[in-house]
Amino acid sequence: MALFKPKAAQAQVDFDYLPRHVAIIMDGNGRWAKRRGLPRTAGHAAGAETFRTIATYCQKIGIEYLTVYAFSTENWKRPLEEVSAIIGLLKKYLLESIEKMERDKIRLHFFGDLEALPPELRELTVRTDDISTHYDGMQVNVCFNYGGRDEIVRAARAFAAECAAGKKDPAQLTEADFSGYLYSAGVPDPDLVIRPSGELRISNFLLWQSAYAEFYYTDVLWPDFSKEELNKALAAYQGRSRRYGGV
Ligand code: FPP
Repeated sequence: MALFKPKAAQAQVDFDYLPRHVAIIMDGNGRWAKRRGLPRTAGHAAGAETFRTIATYCQKIGIEYLTVYAFSTENWKRPLEEVSAIIGLLKKYLLESIEKMERDKIRLHFFGDLEALPPELRELTVRTDDISTHYDGMQVNVCFNYGGRDEIVRAARAFAAECAAGKKDPAQLTEADFSGYLYSAGVPDPDLVIRPSGELRISNFLLWQSAYAEFYYTDVLWPDFSKEELNKALAAYQGRSRRYGGV
């Protein structure tokens, strides 16, 4: 049952039939900034604000899981100034969100290799992850230093190590067992994956988990992505027929 029904969008979206899990590739920050003659870092700052708006809206309407792609394993190739700005935005966001997370019982988790983060930020991610583990509100998963292939390789290594230790039998491995070795262990697969900014690529995002996800693309750049844009994506999702390989 939806927690809140926005009036303006009621005609388009059935708020009683929402995807449980929405995943978003937050793309187009750089182009948004360039069009305004601003540095790329200003685009990321605007993108972080959009993330805040969309996460708050998802929580209001009753989405159970929201996963966002904030920084990929390939994004280290960007100029140091840009990488530092994104890391700084994550830190700012975490510090500003702790209170709201506590109030709304939001669970915040990270998918990705956080070892590479500066120690202070790493400690903050562990702290926010830990304090929210037992909350029962929406779960937000931030993919940071995340790559879908990297995630699968890490899972394969972990499983292989258990086999080598005699704890697991490779012949008995099921898809469900393997899912338990991924960063997303215990999280249902995304129902809807959204990519703004006109790109038609998956870009190493949730490769295993999005096997049966519905995709939604829009030309709107992430900093301009609004609640109305999310409503359009939800309405499109509701118009799809999910067959999971059946008829
Ligand atoms: C992709 O746009 C965006 C990123 C690589 C960074 C996304 C980061 C944030 C929104 C801020 C930090 C996150 C949180 C959770 C607070 P792009 O730079 O590739 O854009 P372009 O394709 O137009 O160049």
